[in-house]
Amino acid sequence: TMVVTESQDKMYYPPDDLKRDAHVPDFNSYLALYRKSLENPEAFWKEVADDFFWKKPATGPMLQYNFDVTIGNIYVKCMEGAKTNMCYNVLDRLVRERNLGEKVAYYWEGNSPDHHMAITYSQLLSQVCRCANVLKKMGVKKGDRVSIYLPMIPELVYTMLACARIGAVHSIVFAGFSSESLCERIMDAQSSVLVTADGVYRGEKLINLKQIADEALEKSNIMTDFMSGICSLFWCVQTPWDSECDVWWEEVMRDSPEECEPEWLDAEDPLFILYTSGSTGKPKGVLHTVAGYLLYTSLTFKYVFDHHHDDVYWCTADIGWITGHSYITYGPLANGATSVLFEGIPVHPHVGRFWEIIEKYKVTKFYTAPTAIRLLMKYGREPLQKYDLSSLRILGTVGEPINPEAWQWYHEAVGKGRCPVVDTFWQTETGGHVLTPLPAATPLKPGSATFPFFGVEPTILNEHGEELEGEAEGYLVFRRPWPGIMRTVYRNHERFENSYFKKFPGFYVTGDGCRRDKDGYYWITGRTDDMLNVSGHLMSTAEVEAALTEHPAVAEAAVVSRPHKVKGECLYCFVSLKDSREFTHTLVEELKRLGKIMRRILRQIARNEKDLGDLSTLADPKVVEELFSQRCEAA
Ligand code: WT7
Repeated sequence: TMVVTESQDKMYYPPDDLKRDAHVPDFNSYLALYRKSLENPEAFWKEVADDFFWKKPATGPMLQYNFDVTIGNIYVKCMEGAKTNMCYNVLDRLVRERNLGEKVAYYWEGNSPDHHMAITYSQLLSQVCRCANVLKKMGVKKGDRVSIYLPMIPELVYTMLACARIGAVHSIVFAGFSSESLCERIMDAQSSVLVTADGVYRGEKLINLKQIADEALEKSNIMTDFMSGICSLFWCVQTPWDSECDVWWEEVMRDSPEECEPEWLDAEDPLFILYTSGSTGKPKGVLHTVAGYLLYTSLTFKYVFDHHHDDVYWCTADIGWITGHSYITYGPLANGATSVLFEGIPVHPHVGRFWEIIEKYKVTKFYTAPTAIRLLMKYGREPLQKYDLSSLRILGTVGEPINPEAWQWYHEAVGKGRCPVVDTFWQTETGGHVLTPLPAATPLKPGSATFPFFGVEPTILNEHGEELEGEAEGYLVFRRPWPGIMRTVYRNHERFENSYFKKFPGFYVTGDGCRRDKDGYYWITGRTDDMLNVSGHLMSTAEVEAALTEHPAVAEAAVVSRPHKVKGECLYCFVSLKDSREFTHTLVEELKRLGKIMRRILRQIARNEKDLGDLSTLADPKVVEELFSQRCEAA
């Protein structure tokens, strides 16, 4: 089914200069490797593992699994019996065995263009070892959880790799989240240490991280006392302080030795937890493990960005999301790459900031989100014309389907028509790219994430769980694991099985709808559950509804998505107030009598789509008309 034939869609073919020294230089090479990865996964992944350091070799196969809940528990294991260390593989191995000590690992670029520094691989290694020793001294041991609430500063990378080095499990919480969110995640992970900073400027806005962190800890203390010994490491000054449990980053780092023997872990030991929205409202602690995540993030990085040693790579995501974990920290470092680490935002101090940075560091591979592209599109081409973007070779996008206009603009205005756009489809749960073009091999269709990565076997099911061949639309599922897939929901394996494996036994269910066209290209059509994607980040309607109903005046709330020019989707909230019993309230009541809120209808009202189809199951179809007449336009 994956034959690239003549097509009505406009295709974009890889440029010749990219093909010359590409890892996968044409579509047939992709197909051959892809077949090998499915027919002989053992040999395929063994070869990948050969690039890395194993303190002890594996005794089990490269992959073992059960994906069928009717047979037994769901599990995935990669390289059972092997001992290794992630931090050793992404730092020591390069410094010692590959002589990359002097190579720049990160060009750090601050929120303000005047703040920048370069960090080499050997500098990174010594900072990480120092931090690892600090954590050890604070009593952190293998298997303990460490919550990290830091902005995009080098200390964030030091801390996560320090955890990896000593076998602690990091749980990074995006430094834009509220104290409630932080508290919830600290509690669920049962972290013994929280690492934060005094504050950060995001654009013009100051965020008092330490204060928010204190609030989060206070809240957690009310409910439990296991956090009372928590400590914080700080970065800057002028900050609320409790000398009982707070320690200064700079003080403790200064006195900490630069040598730290890595903890040799089992291949399937946890590496990190990262929380993602769940459709019930409670965040899910997605757990990734050492060996499989190493193999998968390093291989996807190498092939999807066609990595070469002289590249300068920049992913604009925040490390607080999975994109940053996999494609700012682990994947690039495992390849010995030079990356840009950017603290700021696209429009500060001016709307050409991204282009300025690309010129400044001569960025060759650039990876961002459709929401950022749409935002920058609004300012036209003029801000781009001031900068030299000729270093660019490959452009990438992630987070949500990219609309054709944004794709064209990215390709023409940013890439000058010379750079393939790799539209990478994946999830926090998948650990790395699962549907993606390879830049020198795959002819592109704007808006399609094209074909599966090596080892990934997608299929499309209908509502009854029947597999659909050829041109089809339905549920996107995967028939087998790849090394980087999540292993469980932290402390809730049952929720893991229910969320991803119960609906269609034998398959991992992504929660996304998908269409396969006649050329075999995959097109993501959007979520099939009550999740929505705002600026590339998943949100559950249930979570938002819960938040709305916490307000004393609100009786009930229903939340749906509707398209938004920049954010992709935005929230459309239906709220009924306690005192005024008006039609909104009635509708919600009527609909509730049916046992569920008919989101389909609410969604259509939000989008002003008048053809609603069969409304006969509604208790009072007239309220729909009423709601239409009361519609308000998007801001
Ligand atoms: C959901 C996962 C993976 C890092 C960013 C988001 C949507 C992601 C694409 C894409 C269409 C995409 C899906 C997916 N999504 N990438 N290239 N094309 N949709 O991670 O927060 O776990 O969200 O984002 O709906 O399920 P996440």
